[in-house]
Amino acid sequence: MSKKSVIKPLTQRPAWKALATHQKKIAKLHLRELFAANKQRGEKLTAEAIGLFLDYSKNRITAETLKLLLQLAKESNLRGRMDAMFAGEKINFTENRAVLHTALRAPKNAKVFVDGKNVVPDVHAVLDKMTEFAKRVRSGAWKGHTGKRIKNIVNIGIGGSDLGPVMAYEALRHYSQRDLVFRFVSNVDGADFVEAMQDLNPAETLFVVSSKTFTTQETMTNAESARDWLLRGLGGNKKAVAKHFVAVSTNAEKVSAFGIDTANMFGFWDWVGGRYSMDSAIGLSTMLAVGPENFRALLAGFHEMDEHFRTAPFEKNLPVLMALLSVWNTNFLGAETVAVLPYENYLKRFPAYLQQLTMESNGKSVTLDGKKVNYETSPIYWGEPGTNGQHSFYQLIHQGTRLIPCDFIAFGKALTPLGRHHDLLLANALAQSEALAFGKTAAEVKAEKVADALVPHKVFEGNRPSNTILADRLTPAVLGKLVALYEHIVFVQGAIWSVNPFDQWGVELGKALAQRIVPELENTTLPPLKHDSSTNNLIRRYRKMKSAR
Ligand code: F6P
Repeated sequence: MSKKSVIKPLTQRPAWKALATHQKKIAKLHLRELFAANKQRGEKLTAEAIGLFLDYSKNRITAETLKLLLQLAKESNLRGRMDAMFAGEKINFTENRAVLHTALRAPKNAKVFVDGKNVVPDVHAVLDKMTEFAKRVRSGAWKGHTGKRIKNIVNIGIGGSDLGPVMAYEALRHYSQRDLVFRFVSNVDGADFVEAMQDLNPAETLFVVSSKTFTTQETMTNAESARDWLLRGLGGNKKAVAKHFVAVSTNAEKVSAFGIDTANMFGFWDWVGGRYSMDSAIGLSTMLAVGPENFRALLAGFHEMDEHFRTAPFEKNLPVLMALLSVWNTNFLGAETVAVLPYENYLKRFPAYLQQLTMESNGKSVTLDGKKVNYETSPIYWGEPGTNGQHSFYQLIHQGTRLIPCDFIAFGKALTPLGRHHDLLLANALAQSEALAFGKTAAEVKAEKVADALVPHKVFEGNRPSNTILADRLTPAVLGKLVALYEHIVFVQGAIWSVNPFDQWGVELGKALAQRIVPELENTTLPPLKHDSSTNNLIRRYRKMKSAR
């Protein structure tokens, strides 16, 4: 997002003003009326591309809303911003970096330039190196220090170096090599490491230390504990590290200082943001699990979505439509969150993955010009797979006081067909969006002969917006398409809100303060404390608690 953009501040763009007036005009319209007024609404307000079908008809919009939202995209110079990203301009200007996760899935013959250098050959060189390595581990040719084959793979990383790998492993478990065990350690809480290692044999365990910077406190602490665990288990010979540790990083110096041979390092580049990196070498654990061919199919899916995003007209463009609808729901209908509800158990970690992607990207309150925004930016993304969520928080979505737009994601075919399960699953997905949109009126409740006193409790207002995304089945390619869909939604939102979705300064302060507190907790004598009275008191109390018997 170039700093030099000359577009008007958001609330002064004509389409924004028109949308505000328009919202007042249609505020009272119920989805029941919108559907009654147009019998084809459910077929018309849909878009289909690259094997994904989007039904957005259950949003509180009219043809005019859509027209104005598309106009807003134009006035926000969305096209120019897209061109700048795809061309490798340094749109992450606060870190002086290009934003080129799209180059990670570009075909071999593509050309993408950063500072005059085509980066695609480097991307494919790393992919080839990952492929070689994955083949050796999966076939058993790669042996551990004692000559045993590797059976356990432990990814150590956090944030973008963990959430993508975990999510992809769970999502593609169906395609994984079942005689390999995968574990993911992220939290600096020792319980994460200890529990993950409980039943593993060091002689058969390979650690993939994934960290873009190779300085992240959590990851380095876990990696050190892993090295100790391994050496303890294998008799202390430091040479063992070479056979049991590989690194994924941009920082060769730190990798080598840790003791990992840089021949066993898989690189990526500063133009790949952590939360946009699951398709870089950060996906090494994914490739080990599902094999190089499936990993390349995943990348091909990403690329198909990139091409759709880059070339489809905005009114048929899935990420653009979904982003504009989220802007409508957030900024004009006052929604504070978006629930992502996959009706596919393999996607159980998808909402958690999206939390970092969406909120670390657009959880910003200053514009590209450094001015405080006077509108809401990223909503809170959250969710759980259906049908589990139905028996938990859906009550609030149906009858609570808040407006919670939902993204339902479902598939035509189950990966593991079992009796009636898939029909029942889908019946639930479809029923939920129907209930949310149309609800149940007092008259309908009364017609069921419900006692008068109970009627208000059984009324469903409806008019709750949702999108439904359908795909044939969850394949590696479809997963790539879905992730890229949300990556580009985030991009479009950022363009409308005029924020930089690619930095994350908001995580720095806590990190720095923690560094300062560490010695205050660990030193035998308490250093003079210079925090506020609450933090000082908590530090003293913790020290007492940890030393008490
Ligand atoms: O949470 C901040 C962050 O920088 C994320 O953006 C990133 O994904 C994560 O930490 C991990 O960073 P690294 O891969 O450098 O260990």
